[in-house]
Amino acid sequence: MTYLERFDATPEYARFALVRGWLDTEALPLVNELREKRPILKTTVCTFVADFNDVVEVLRVHQVFTNEPYHAKMDPYLMSQDDTPMHFRDKSATQAFLDRDDLPRVRALVAKETNAALDAAQGQIDTVPALTRGVPIRVVEEYMGLQGAAPGKLAEWSYWNQYSAFHNHPWDIVADRQTVDDNVNRSKKELIDFIAGLLAKRLAEAQLPVPILDDNIVNRLVRSHLQTPGHFDILWKGLNIGGLLIGMVETASQATVQALAQLMDRPDVLASAQVAATYDDPTTFDAYVWEALRFNPISPYLFRVTNAPYILGAGRPWQEEIPANTAVLPLILAAMHDPVRFPNPGTFDPTRPPLVNTFHFGFGLHECMGRYVGAVVIPEIIRQVLLRRDLKVVSPLSFEGKPLPEKFVISYNG
Ligand code: HEM
Repeated sequence: MTYLERFDATPEYARFALVRGWLDTEALPLVNELREKRPILKTTVCTFVADFNDVVEVLRVHQVFTNEPYHAKMDPYLMSQDDTPMHFRDKSATQAFLDRDDLPRVRALVAKETNAALDAAQGQIDTVPALTRGVPIRVVEEYMGLQGAAPGKLAEWSYWNQYSAFHNHPWDIVADRQTVDDNVNRSKKELIDFIAGLLAKRLAEAQLPVPILDDNIVNRLVRSHLQTPGHFDILWKGLNIGGLLIGMVETASQATVQALAQLMDRPDVLASAQVAATYDDPTTFDAYVWEALRFNPISPYLFRVTNAPYILGAGRPWQEEIPANTAVLPLILAAMHDPVRFPNPGTFDPTRPPLVNTFHFGFGLHECMGRYVGAVVIPEIIRQVLLRRDLKVVSPLSFEGKPLPEKFVISYNG
């Protein structure tokens, strides 16, 4: 039986759980079938959208497909709002501090930290704690300037915030929501205390007759004199420092380990990627990583909630009115395997134009603010791994029953 035959044979109340389970274990064949046979699939919990153009439309029409699911999780951070003055102001300002001219420096830092971890592990490494979480955390400390937290705390705070904001919604299967809430509340409190202490210290250092501040994002915020009345105060700076941590660590970790696992699963691709890893210009190599992520992005879907009825698939055979207050999950995995946009979508082709028509960093109003940093951190960790010899999987990628990758052990020489 096909997925849809099994779906149709299941009572309505049980259909969502069926689809949700398949999304966790066999997402690609499922979303390919939906895109081909039923691009709009309604369940009692949410509506799945699988056609490329419809996915783009959901993410583009933020006036109707709102990011309401983030409101309670993130308020008063910019991601908690759609197209408001606050969202526009805060995103513009924060992006200015994440200066794209810093990227060569970020890339060099990532290479150094990845190699230090690989050298220390002496031939066998659990990539998740040591590299895919560990290196982004070093970026958060060194480049972003969140320095002085107790060991393990940055990882813990970012983990629970990511869990709460992205994996604890009505369309997620969560055994114990109370535990998630308790952990995220405690993490938020500890993170706020840490940032308050950090800002007090850095502000005091900035007052010294000869200021001793290094150049990092926290210190750029401390030194800045943005002066729009009522905005950009010290609380704003603290909030956005927290956003840097939460934005960076688990997203980069998941993307990096999933792309690495995809590459290691294809010996021929791995061999040619290892050649590309030796080139001075990383462009050719990075394209392998974006292509790998197309087969397993950090999530097969994004999520929005409608605030008004909307006709999706307008003028096409599957046209359907989506009522107000519907949770809509645009299946970005399905869109990135649409043969119209990605010829021979099941073929791993590293010559596809990099990051064209992909959704690795979202799309539309809420496209990722940290995408340029992410776009050097993710491939550079993988590049340094691939520069080692005799790469082998020792223990496959595992989530250990949690919503984020926890373990992927590899061995190597050199
Ligand atoms: C410097 C590090 C990062 C920061 C500060 C950051 C921050 C953000 C923010 C603030 C948004 C929402 C923007 C808005 O509402 O307008 C966002 C969206 C997003 N980010 Fe990042 N991010 C970072 C790195 C990453 C990485 C490494 C990935 C991995 C692929 C990623 C994936 C995404 C995705 C998929 C979205 C879209 C979410 C949606 O539309 O619902 N981000 N990011």
